[in-house]
Amino acid sequence: MKRFVLAITGASGVVYGKRLFDCLKSQAEIHVVISERGAELLKIELGLKTSYFKGNNVVLHKTSKINTSIASGSFRLDGMVIVPASMGTIGRISAGVSGNLIERVADVMLKEKRKLIVVPREAPFSTIHLKNLLSLDQAGALILPASPGFYQGQNSVESLVDFVVARIMDQLGVDQDLMPPYEA
Ligand SMILES: Cc1cc2nc3c(=O)[nH]c(=O)nc-3n(C[C@H](O)[C@H](O)[C@H](O)COP(=O)(O)O)c2cc1C
Repeated sequence: MKRFVLAITGASGVVYGKRLFDCLKSQAEIHVVISERGAELLKIELGLKTSYFKGNNVVLHKTSKINTSIASGSFRLDGMVIVPASMGTIGRISAGVSGNLIERVADVMLKEKRKLIVVPREAPFSTIHLKNLLSLDQAGALILPASPGFYQGQNSVESLVDFVVARIMDQLGVDQDLMPPYEA
């Protein structure tokens, strides 16, 4: 079974993180880390508590507790997804701050050359945001913006969310039946 870290931070679009969790939990071990602001956004946007993120193969970590398994490079992880990724978290990772568990695991993924998928949500981007995103890309992260396409007949909010989640799952190398490959 593959093993992933799912981080939810305080950007709008926590529904992407929730949907990814729902789709992954039957086929992977998931370590969930939710920032304080991410928890607030879950409440505001979805009416959810962090206790939603539980299950047989699920571990819900404390963001403030860095002294834990997933913070070590010796812990085998197949990937980390930060979705949605706030500009604050992106800036701190790009500066190498490692001040909480999300930033530390992302730092480890980059140093160990493992898969780190960052799903930013902000509009418009400032020069600082763009520079930080470029730094992460250059350090080996994959920047996969929360910007769904509309060319496969998406006609509901759910299908637009699924478009983005399908792209994330494709990048993680796990099966998904949310969105078939495009055929003209
Ligand atoms: C309602 C609400 C919506 C927000 N939406 C965004 C957003 O879409 N993108 C973003 O980068 N920050 C957004 N923020 C700001 C972040 O939550 C803030 O910068 C926070 O410090 C990020 O902390 P975190 O990265 O530890 O989660 C939002 C804040 C609030 C209260």
